[in-house]
Amino acid sequence: NTGQQNILTEKQGNVAIVTLNRPKALNALSGALIQELLQALKAFDKDDDVGAIIITGNERAFCAGADIAEQKALSFTQAYNTDYLRDIVDSILAIHKPIIGVVNGYALGGGCELAMMCDIVYAGEKAVFGQPEIKLGTIPGAGGTQRLIRAIGKAKAMHMILTGENMSATEAEKAGLVAKVLPVNEVLPAAIKAATTIAGYSRPVVAIAKEAVNEAEELGLRNGLHFERRLYHSTFALSDHQEGFGAFLEKRQPQWKHV
Ligand code: CAA
Repeated sequence: NTGQQNILTEKQGNVAIVTLNRPKALNALSGALIQELLQALKAFDKDDDVGAIIITGNERAFCAGADIAEQKALSFTQAYNTDYLRDIVDSILAIHKPIIGVVNGYALGGGCELAMMCDIVYAGEKAVFGQPEIKLGTIPGAGGTQRLIRAIGKAKAMHMILTGENMSATEAEKAGLVAKVLPVNEVLPAAIKAATTIAGYSRPVVAIAKEAVNEAEELGLRNGLHFERRLYHSTFALSDHQEGFGAFLEKRQPQWKHV
């Protein structure tokens, strides 16, 4: 896409890959980068050939956070009125298809928050996660104080946010922020493999599963279980449900129609 100056996009089979591509600024989230990223995610979400989406950066940086140079100039009112952090948080929440974040190098501030907006995070062994906003005289503004605590618990989240200390990939995996840690050159291929597996299942069922898991963060247990059961029963209306159950009993591979 020739209109893209801050990201690269490609498809590998049924997997879409969005690569943040502002290497000189360590993929910092400028307004322009965010607009291109959201446009690409929305387009892939609507693309029937795509079953899963990967967001990645380069070996040095997944993303070093909000663009400090761009944000430095903003007054409170300007920051409030051009709230592109709200755009990114709301728009990514609205994506139906699963998003895998593939993190190598720095995932700091808004970069760590972007990783946490993904449904699954794979990290290379040299990945570094952190919320260093406190060192700049601010606080996380794209979900850090809310999502980190859910991912790794209050003790570690509060420690990271108040000290500004980073966390290694191994620590992040142990703490529950990351699903898998792999050698740097294996992490993207492994994520593409997982994304291909996901893209091979019934699209509506994958979207419903993602929705059910995400609602667990919003609802209490009783309401969450109720919501899950309703969605579970709703899958009985899909022809893919008939196909999946039938194929199991007939000892054959299911042929999904994605309806
Ligand atoms: N915004 C804009 N530019 C950035 C940037 C950012 N967040 N992070 C790095 N850069 C730029 C640097 O200014 C530098 O540019 P020049 O070559 O033109 O000087 C270039 O990227 C390379 O960076 P460094 O020279 O600093 O590289 P390093 O290897 O010495 O250090 C680093 C790497 C530790 C990641 C360091 O760049 C750093 O600390 N970056 C800032 C990280 C940060 O504080 N992020 C939080 C931002 S606030 C936020 O995200 C709010 C929110 O919640 C949304």
